[in-house]
Amino acid sequence: MCGIVGYIGKRNATPIIVEGLKRLEYRGYDSAGLAINKDGKLHIYKAVGKITDLERSLPEPNVTFSNIGIGHTRWATHGKPNKTNAHPHTGQYGKIALVHNGIIENYKQLRQKLTTEGHQFNTETDTEVLAHLVEYFIEKEQDFTSGVQKALKLVEGTFGIAVIHTDYPENIVAARKGSPLILGIGNEEFFITSDVAAIIIHTKKVIYLKDGEVVNLNHEKFEITTLDNEAVKAKISEVDWDVSSIEKGDYEHFMLKEIYEQVTSVENAFRGRLMNKLSTARLGGLNITGNELRKVKKIQIIGCGTSWHAALIGKNMIESLARIPVEVEYASEYRYRNPIIPEDTLVFVISQSGETADTLAALREAQARGAKVLGITNVVGSTIARESDGGVYIHAGAEIGVASTKAFTSQVTVLCLLALILGRMKHLSAQYGIKFLKEIKRIPQKIEKVLNLNEEIERIAATIKDSKNALYLGRGMHYPVALEGALKLKEISYIHAEGYPAAEMKHGPIALIDEKMPVVAIALKDAIYDKIISNLQEVKARNGHIIAIATEGDENIKDLAEHVIYIPETMDIFQPLLSVVPLQLLAYHVAHLRGFNVDQPRNLAKSVTVE
Ligand code: AGP
Ligand code: GLU
Repeated sequence: MCGIVGYIGKRNATPIIVEGLKRLEYRGYDSAGLAINKDGKLHIYKAVGKITDLERSLPEPNVTFSNIGIGHTRWATHGKPNKTNAHPHTGQYGKIALVHNGIIENYKQLRQKLTTEGHQFNTETDTEVLAHLVEYFIEKEQDFTSGVQKALKLVEGTFGIAVIHTDYPENIVAARKGSPLILGIGNEEFFITSDVAAIIIHTKKVIYLKDGEVVNLNHEKFEITTLDNEAVKAKISEVDWDVSSIEKGDYEHFMLKEIYEQVTSVENAFRGRLMNKLSTARLGGLNITGNELRKVKKIQIIGCGTSWHAALIGKNMIESLARIPVEVEYASEYRYRNPIIPEDTLVFVISQSGETADTLAALREAQARGAKVLGITNVVGSTIARESDGGVYIHAGAEIGVASTKAFTSQVTVLCLLALILGRMKHLSAQYGIKFLKEIKRIPQKIEKVLNLNEEIERIAATIKDSKNALYLGRGMHYPVALEGALKLKEISYIHAEGYPAAEMKHGPIALIDEKMPVVAIALKDAIYDKIISNLQEVKARNGHIIAIATEGDENIKDLAEHVIYIPETMDIFQPLLSVVPLQLLAYHVAHLRGFNVDQPRNLAKSVTVE
């Protein structure tokens, strides 16, 4: 949540920060603000809403010219999204400006303590307390870095912060614990950011700061230390994606661009990983031997939201190909449930961003209980990627739309490969392996075929755009796809939607069905096709408005459904990769037709770095 950008160098910091914040807006868009250090004084500008609102409110460029500044786009956790609560926050003596990503859990105690010492607070945020505390310690220590270190040692919770101070007009100090923070290294200039997207047009050389690290930078050099002031020698990494991946190009929205990118992103998830000779696949980074894998008796996959849906599909695939029992857990529940991890259990955490606080906490919990935890992530260098004992990148490229689309299909692709690998280690035949490898290569072009239905799906979207509710039905592997379709619709169009196993409908939700209720059914030709058809008969008998996702050539379904979206035939295991695409497009068009900001749905943020 929230985006941080800081700049120090020889150029004007303000436009660099504003442009950077625009690229981070997907991380939070409740309010925005920036602070610069100019002529020994802090100048702070804030606005409610988008970065463009902040930009519009700024005075003439010569007034905001400075070589040093920090900015923030907020996703409110403590206090309303108004101007007062917007970051940067200041301290008691007006000497510092601080931006923060995360939550200070003991802010009430700290606030009380500081209040008794005469501090006055003007906002409802936890961050303001941090600003006071940091400023207080800098004053006490008479040193910028050690003041920040001392203050942060008293803090419970998570933070990524960047600070400027009037007594140190040439420096920025930044630190992290639990929230991402990256140092960008330019030519006589440095950047601080919570996501490389903000700085990639300036530099690709970065250092991913680790938890408990503090960095002090001026325009010539930087120094990284721990909270105990031990020097840290950090590794410089090179970012391997370019600016086009974070631009919309000809598309109206990132979400639409990312839906279309699935033709290549799915291919990128399996490219170089297929082993034709052995009729299996290889996932290099797993960091686990064949023998260890063979011994696995149980698998747990942990994630949130869309990643959790991908995990449910993974469960289905692994259980059916490898016959290894798989438990799928919500990360937020796992951590506080005193989870049981029997011996020979392999734990996977799955996360597009690699920064989701719940998933990270679950990873740490499983590790603390002695489990080997592997990560399935998209963002290279993310905290989950770094902290897991091994893992796989899904290589989907930057995903900016808050509603996850291409990351989902890439996650499912990687889970397909995992199911194949585990299956082939057990009793899955080489024949199946050969068929699998042949068919997976055809999936990108089959996705392309589904994308050609865009206009038809837009027309169908128009028929349901004014609905208040929607039901998504599927069985087996299509049940998680139904959940995903429903999540897409609710998060961007604000229509209440539920995903249900089709046969469960008659145990309750059927009561909701009338002529106003759209029912989106995934009814593909597979072993349980006849069963779902019976379920749809039940919907039709109650006048429900059926939109079916069906297999090409299935003429019978037309008697039941008002609209049929035909997708190409494929092996059962790959069906979710195709069936989810029309659901993504349907949600996109409904939201668009309703006039909502598809890329930045209300109340949400791309990566949820608070618990
Ligand atoms: C998906 O459309 C959501 N915005 C959300 O559910 C997301 O999948 C979830 O927050 C998990 O994120 P992660 O994959 O980055 O961990
Ligand atoms: N907890 C802080 C606030 O509510 C920071 C939230 C964020 O990460 O944007 O202002």
